[in-house]
Parts: sequence; C-alpha cells; structure tokens
Amino acid sequence: MRKKLTLLVLLVVLTVLALPVSNLLYSPKSSAMARIATDDKSFATALEVMAEKCGNCHTSDASLPIYSGLPVARGIIQRDIDEGTRYMDYLQSLSPKDGKPVSEIVLAKTEFVLEHGTMPPGRFRLMHWAGGLSTSEKAAMTKWIKEQRARHFATGDAANSFASEVLQPLPNSVELNVAKAAVGNKLFHDKRLSKDDTVACATCHALDKGGTDRAQYSTGVGNQVGGINSPTVYNSGLQFMQFWDGRAGNLQEQADGPVNNPIEMASNWPETFSKLSQDTVFMQEFTSVYPNGLSKENCTDAIAEFERTLLTPNCKFDRYLRGEAAALNEQELAGMQLFRDIGCATCHAGKLMGGQSFERMGRKSDYFEARGMKMTDADNGRFNVTKVEADRHAFKVPTLRNIAATGPYLHDGSQTDLAKVVGIMAACQFGKTLKEDETTKIVSFLNALTGEYQGKILQ
Ligand code: HEC
Ligand code: HEC
Ligand code: HEC
Repeated sequence: MRKKLTLLVLLVVLTVLALPVSNLLYSPKSSAMARIATDDKSFATALEVMAEKCGNCHTSDASLPIYSGLPVARGIIQRDIDEGTRYMDYLQSLSPKDGKPVSEIVLAKTEFVLEHGTMPPGRFRLMHWAGGLSTSEKAAMTKWIKEQRARHFATGDAANSFASEVLQPLPNSVELNVAKAAVGNKLFHDKRLSKDDTVACATCHALDKGGTDRAQYSTGVGNQVGGINSPTVYNSGLQFMQFWDGRAGNLQEQADGPVNNPIEMASNWPETFSKLSQDTVFMQEFTSVYPNGLSKENCTDAIAEFERTLLTPNCKFDRYLRGEAAALNEQELAGMQLFRDIGCATCHAGKLMGGQSFERMGRKSDYFEARGMKMTDADNGRFNVTKVEADRHAFKVPTLRNIAATGPYLHDGSQTDLAKVVGIMAACQFGKTLKEDETTKIVSFLNALTGEYQGKILQ
C-alpha cells in the first residue's frame, strides 16, 4: 500500500516537472518579431531577447507549447496571449510605419516592467525556468530604451542625470514663423469665424483659463452645449494627434473642425471669408504673410502656427529636471516618486506627460459603471474613428501639464476635484486603492506642473 502511494506521488511529481522540463528543451520564439529588420545594434540585441522572452504572449503569432493541448493549460495560455497582446502588441509596436521611431510610450511601458521585474509574469517563470530575463538581457533592453529616448525624445536641456528619463522638461521655445503666428493669433480670437459672430476659438480655449473654458461641456453658437470636455490648447502642438479620439492628425487639420461644427461655430470658410475680406486692415496683414489670400489652407496654417507658440515651460518640475534640485519640495518629490512607482508615467510620459498614445479608460476596473452617468456616444472614444472593438473607451491620454488650471477633468468633464481623479486613475488603470497621504503627495506633484506663458505663471 505504502509502496503504491510513493509510486503515485513520484508519478505526479514527475508529470508536474515534465512540463517545465519540456519547456527547457523547447522554447518557442516569435519568428515574426525576430525578422524585424534594423541596422541599430542595440535594437537588434533587444529584439533578439524580446522575440524569445516576450513574444510568447505579446504577439499575434505567439506559438503554443506542446502541452497546450491539455484542457486547463490551453485556457490559461490563450488568456495570457490575448491579455498580453491587448496591453502591448510588440510585433506592431516595434515595427512602426513610415520610418518613425518606436513610440515613447512603448519605451516607457517596457522600461517600467524591466525596473519592476513584473515581466514575464511569475506564473510563466514557474513553468519556464529559463523564461525570466537574465541581468545581461535586462541591461541590453535598458540600453536600447535609454538610447532611443536620448536620440528621439529628450528635450535636450535636461540636466545630465535626467537626460534619458521618462519624464522630460518642456522646451522653452520651438522654431516657428512669427508673422504667421501673429495672423493666427488674430484668427484664434476672431468671432467672425462663427455663424453669428458670437464664438471664437478662444471662447472655448481661453488663454486666461488654462486654454480651456472651465466648463464640463463647451457652449457654442446659439447656446448649444457639446458632449465632451474642451481640452487645453496649451502645448497641444506637441501631441501626436488631436482630439480625444484622434480624429485629426495635426493642428492644421484640427482647426478646420470647429468652424464647420454645427454646435461649435456653425459656419463654413466661404462665409467667414466674405466677412473677413471686408476688413481692409486685417486683409493687409493677412496678404502680406499669405500673398495668395484667404483660403482654408492659409487660415488653418496660421492658426496652427499660433497654437505652436502656446508653450508653457518653467514649471517647478521643469526647473527640477533642468538641475535646480530645490525647485521641488519634499512633498512634491514624494509625489513624483509615487507617480513613477505606480506607473502613471507609463502613459503620462515624455515632456507633455501625455498626448502620445490612446489608452483604454478602465483597464482594471469599469470606469463607466462606477461613474453612474448614462453612456454617451463620446464615451466610445477612439472606437468612433476606427470601429475596432479594442479601441472602445480608448482616449488620447491628456497632457498633465498645467493640470491644476485645466479642470473639470476627463473627457466627460465629470470631475472637478483633482484628488478624486488621481484616485479614479489608480483604481481604473491599476486596480489600486491609494492611501489618503499618497493621493495628497501626487496632487502636490501635479500642482507643480503649472508653467508659464509669456513669462507669467498660468492661473
Ligand atoms: C506568459 C505571458 C507573458 C510573457 C512571457 C510576457 N508577458 Fe508582458 N504581459 C502579459 C500579460 C497577461 C499582461 C497584462 C498585464 C496585466 O494584466 O497586468 C502583460 C503586460 C505587459 C506590459 C504592459 C504593462 C502596462 O502596464 O501597460 C508590458 C510593457 C509587458 N507586458 C512587457 C513584457 C516584456 C518586456 C516581456 C518579456 C521580457 C513580457 N511582457 C513577457 C503576459 C506576458
Ligand atoms: C464651442 C467650443 C469650441 C470652439 C469654438 C472651439 N473649440 Fe476646440 N475644442 C472644443 C472641444 C469640446 C474639443 C474636444 C473635442 C473632441 O475631442 O472631440 C476641442 C478640441 C480642440 C483641440 C484638440 C486638443 C487636444 O488635446 O486634442 C484643439 C487644438 C482645438 N480644439 C483648437 C481649436 C481652434 C483652433 C478653434 C477655432 C478654430 C477651436 N478649437 C474652437 C471646443 C471648442
Ligand atoms: C494606461 C494609461 C494610463 C495610466 C497608467 C494612467 N493614466 Fe491618467 N489618463 C489616461 C487616460 C486615457 C485619461 C483620459 C481618460 C478619460 O478622459 O476618460 C487619463 C486622464 C488623467 C487625468 C485627467 C486629465 C484631464 O485633463 O482631464 C489625470 C489627472 C490623470 N490621468 C492622472 C493619472 C495618474 C495620477 C495616474 C497614476 C495613478 C495615471 N493617470 C495613470 C491614461 C492613463
């Protein structure tokens, strides 16, 4: 009897061990990932590591191990692949189109899991004894990330110690055409762009209200109320796309929207031109910059050029990143550390602390259910543009620059209290409940992100 039991236990142990042992002998890698072409040596090394250690779950061509035929195993493995690829499709994100560099957000997210040792997941390493990252593999990936960041995304004037950090200072200026920007400034503040001369761009993006209207929803021509919160125009030129759902690729494309939008300016360019062309003073300035006269292209070009001047550098945090160690107090520093440790900076990354990717609102818990408000069309977010189910409730990550001055918050403008938004983000994106003092620290840090426009701090 005892002998039988020992034999049985031995058999079970051997079977359990057989799985990880078989994984030692056979470790599949993402062949499509391994085929990504590059002449960058650091990237090639990082790719090799990632094709083997990450491709199992983060690509659509992930290959299944031999025992995936076992009923329970199959379910677990498939779930990892689906979830993993939903969070990060490395095949797609490591081979961006049009010769673009790998995005700042992909770098930030990858660096985060390396720093925190969270990937590959523990349950995977239990079955794949050689599945974890060795110190040298980690170092190779980190080297590639830091190099990419320094080459493509660093502002350049960060102190040496912050030169390849995920968060960067805002640049003090950008190159632009001053004459065009001056015309754009006039158009931005000109109510004649609206049907009944009551609404200018600045009505909903007031430069003395953080570049917003400080309302949940904006009010356009004829007191019509829209269905989505007006984002700030400050620093908007640094974003990868425009609008919460990214339906405009750049500022110039964006500027065509409001004029024709029936509940914003409810007009059109020909109507606007017939009004502007009667203004000889305006026309003189306009044609001196744009000799071929009024056109949609010229007007949106001028407005976009003006918007590029709306930079707000020199907040406390920028000064800190430039090397002024005392610019942040203890509380703000602790908030910055939490912001990084929790992972907020993986989406709110770079100099804008946002504006570089679309992300699902409510990855870990259902924001919309918790909100309790009726669902609106705007809540679909990026889905409205792509019609891809995975993009439902994904929004362009808003910039956190000047966040203290740009409330109410979120695409639905439903929140007025920044502390509450921080709690919502921690719960929805990480499934985390913050302690009160943690929230207070993060809010202090966010308050240190208010910068200067034309030398004066935003109110
Ligand atoms: C066993 C499957 C598996 C492997 C192997 C794996 N991952 Fe993941 N990964 C996941 C899953 C599942 C998620 C979703 C995370 C969650 O639910 O928190 C994820 C999430 C991520 C994220 C997104 C994190 C975020 O917060 O947005 C990154 C980045 C990531 N993994 C990187 C890696 C890297 C780098 C490797 C290789 C070194 C790797 N993963 C290996 C399954 C895997
Ligand atoms: C009636 C209010 C209103 C008017 C007028 C208006 N906007 Fe907006 N603006 C909004 C709202 C609301 C959004 C967000 C819409 C969305 O994402 O679907 C927005 C979005 C934007 C964005 C994108 C910002 C981002 O972070 O994605 C820019 C840039 C912008 N507007 C500039 C302008 C310009 C230039 C004009 C004038 C030609 C203008 N707006 C007129 C309300 C307005
Ligand atoms: C997975 C990406 C992601 C992570 C991680 C993330 N955010 Fe966000 N954040 C977003 C998106 C997307 C929105 C817009 C959501 C919406 O409007 O419904 C947002 C909105 C915000 C806003 C409101 C901004 C505004 O102008 O309305 C604040 C504040 C904010 N996040 C702070 C944080 C903090 C603090 C953390 C860390 C606890 C964090 N976020 C983590 C993606 C992320």
